[in-house]
Amino acid sequence: MATQPVTQRDSFTSKIGIIAAVAGSAVGLGNIWKFPYITGVFGGGAFVLVYLICIALIGLPVMLSEFIIGRKAQRNAVGSFKKLAPGTLWFMPGIMGLVAAFMILAFYGVVAGWTLEYLLKSVLNAFAGKNPADLEGMFGGFISQVTKPIIWQCVFMGLTGWIVLAGIKGGIERASKLLMPILLMIIIILDIRAITLPGAAEGLAFLFKPDFSKLSAEGMLSALGHAFFSLSLGMGTLITYSSYMGKRENLATTAVQVTVADTVIALLAGIAIFPAVFAFGIEPGAGPGLVFITLPNVFQQMPGGYFFCLLFFLLLAVAALTSSISILEVVVAYFVEELKLGRRAATIMATVAITIAGIPCSLSMGVMSNVQFMGKTFFDWLDFIAANILLPLGGLLIVAFVGWYLGREKTETEVTNEGELKAGYLPLFMFLAKFVAPVVIAIVFLHGLGLF
Ligand code: PFF
Repeated sequence: MATQPVTQRDSFTSKIGIIAAVAGSAVGLGNIWKFPYITGVFGGGAFVLVYLICIALIGLPVMLSEFIIGRKAQRNAVGSFKKLAPGTLWFMPGIMGLVAAFMILAFYGVVAGWTLEYLLKSVLNAFAGKNPADLEGMFGGFISQVTKPIIWQCVFMGLTGWIVLAGIKGGIERASKLLMPILLMIIIILDIRAITLPGAAEGLAFLFKPDFSKLSAEGMLSALGHAFFSLSLGMGTLITYSSYMGKRENLATTAVQVTVADTVIALLAGIAIFPAVFAFGIEPGAGPGLVFITLPNVFQQMPGGYFFCLLFFLLLAVAALTSSISILEVVVAYFVEELKLGRRAATIMATVAITIAGIPCSLSMGVMSNVQFMGKTFFDWLDFIAANILLPLGGLLIVAFVGWYLGREKTETEVTNEGELKAGYLPLFMFLAKFVAPVVIAIVFLHGLGLF
């Protein structure tokens, strides 16, 4: 295996490229597929409000912590901890992140593959004349097949690997700068369509008018868990990305901009979906099938539906791609820097291994649905271990590392770019990083294990 020559590390080249790439990582299936359906399941406005509070109080400090670690160390998720805390066990959160990246991308690639099939179905107008029961059968029939979903998963993973292979500026930054504006445009077009539907007000009220009687403890905890997933936190993705940022970037501003962008796009996705759901009398709490079963039905009934349906699945596929590349980069950067593989070998190995791990995930929707351990399929296990255990625990350790191990002085040096910038928010950040974030995350973690 080729040893990497000692060359200058690849990096992002512009501020806009950084925002596009980090926002591209954050904005994904989590925003457009998951946020609307869990908002529906947990009753609407009040859940949204709790989610926003979690984003501000927990999400933002964890994001800034990842930026501080990555930009300071200029290494991959594991190497960064090794460099900043040599001879300690602090590299463990990096290893956990690596494992989480592997697991999340395995099942993310499967769901992303479904979006490609649905994009093709939209092009072919395959939803025309189908009633809701037909569409449910169509979705169930598709995901339970053996070969077709795996082929789409391989196509999607191939695309992901192809972009990552081209490196940071030539691959990830370029693709994000091209795809993110497309995504924003599509979602705004969909929003305009949605809010001009007759009866749209009811959908908007569902999303924005908090009704606290509908808020459950489980809803609150899910809001926090989702804040992690949606902002790509807890597994070193943003440690890896920020390691490619220049020493003059303002980390705090970038964190705020990306957090706002991710949140606005989740809300825009809700605005695109709920007015339509209400206008056509569909159950908002329909669950994970909301996007794949309900929306083709909604689109069919609206003027211009063919076009808007196609745009919607294109949006979903694009959003998934800019997220999946960030997950793959966590593994590739580790292979290159810690295992000294060439980037090409690293990318091919990581892509192939993760795709193979995704195959049983795909099969667990059909032929392997009976292969269960404690009532969960392979797909469910990967999702559960990664999202409910590794991400919260990783996030807790990351924020505690900055709050307690690096401490105020080193943190200040990093966020002020060695004294160039002002950081009046520092006392608040240190308080959130040392106390608030770790305690609240610990509660979610215990909940994830079913201990609380
Ligand atoms: N944030 C992505 C989404 O909302 O779909 C998913 C994700 C990407 C999670 C990267 C974690 C991660 F490290």
